[in-house]
Amino acid sequence: MTDPYPTADERRVTASPSGITRAADALASGRLIAFPTETVYGLGADAENDDAVARIFEAKGRPRFNPLIVHVAGTSWARELVHFDRRAELLAERFWPGALTLVLRRKSGASLSRLVSAGLDTAAIRLPQHAVAHQIIEKAGVPVAAPSANRSGLVSPTTADHVYEAWPRGIELGPDVIVDDGPCAIGLESTVVDLSEPEPTLLRPGGIAIEDLNAALGEELRTSEKIDAPKSPGMLLRHYAPNTPLVMNVENTSPDGLLLGFGPTVRNADLNLSPSGDLREAAANLFAMIHQLDKRGMAEIAVTPIPDIGLGRAINDRLRRAAAG
Ligand code: TXA
Ligand code: MG
Repeated sequence: MTDPYPTADERRVTASPSGITRAADALASGRLIAFPTETVYGLGADAENDDAVARIFEAKGRPRFNPLIVHVAGTSWARELVHFDRRAELLAERFWPGALTLVLRRKSGASLSRLVSAGLDTAAIRLPQHAVAHQIIEKAGVPVAAPSANRSGLVSPTTADHVYEAWPRGIELGPDVIVDDGPCAIGLESTVVDLSEPEPTLLRPGGIAIEDLNAALGEELRTSEKIDAPKSPGMLLRHYAPNTPLVMNVENTSPDGLLLGFGPTVRNADLNLSPSGDLREAAANLFAMIHQLDKRGMAEIAVTPIPDIGLGRAINDRLRRAAAG
């Protein structure tokens, strides 16, 4: 009998023209793909196809009430799907393509599957910068719903290997095609901003710093601390979690723990997110280093303090969620 599932090697393609065509064709026929973006690898499906979007939830084991980001290949696509107001134009002009997701009201005739919004009357839209992501979406000719390509609640993938480990051979529900284009440059998910209400609100810190968004908007984003109920259901407290217990803001660990450091003053670290203390470098290394330390199966991953400014705010947000047991 033949194996009904493609082997790992068959699923994996490089970002060559034929690899991109295979990914676009898979999308067009309602299958899942994993593809690189500048933030993290995404698990993509045709956002206009209900069955295809439903497969994403199955593959990730993701709660149905957690809506998905829709990726487009041009701002004009976004204008067709959602009510793109003045603030959206302003932020898109400044930060797209890039690591910014905008939550906006769906247009009534929008071709998007209702599943991407998980029952809300809004949709989250992002125009990624990564050339390969752009080419795949453009070639498929449809908006692409894509959460990070990890199983729900676990650490986000910043390499094709991470994706592959999440859906090893023999598990049928994963992506049909994994497009490998090396590690992601930013390494943290996009910043999510809700523009669907009178006051613009930060739903998730990420690859674009809040300080830069505030400067572009000319007003301060409300931040989640000030919101009563978390509006973004994806901001579940325990998220991004490795198997190994993680603690943050400590200087040391026990002999059976591992230390993840940041900056030049940390000497005894097993790995250092950025020996020079560069937050951009730390963000790019964060998930890959957590993956790496997690595999060693020790009692604890201890992380030294990270400054809570710029990208550091997004890094600390992810660490807090990884640490919440
Ligand atoms: O960088 C990224 O954003 C990556 C890459 C693949 O683009 N994607 C990603 O998707 O991180 P995901 O599904 O892991 O996170 C999407 C976040 C979740 O917190 C979700 O709750 C929120 O966006 N979200 C999506 N649609 C929303 C909506 N309509 N209203 C509020 N929050 C929404
Ligand atoms: Mg995710």
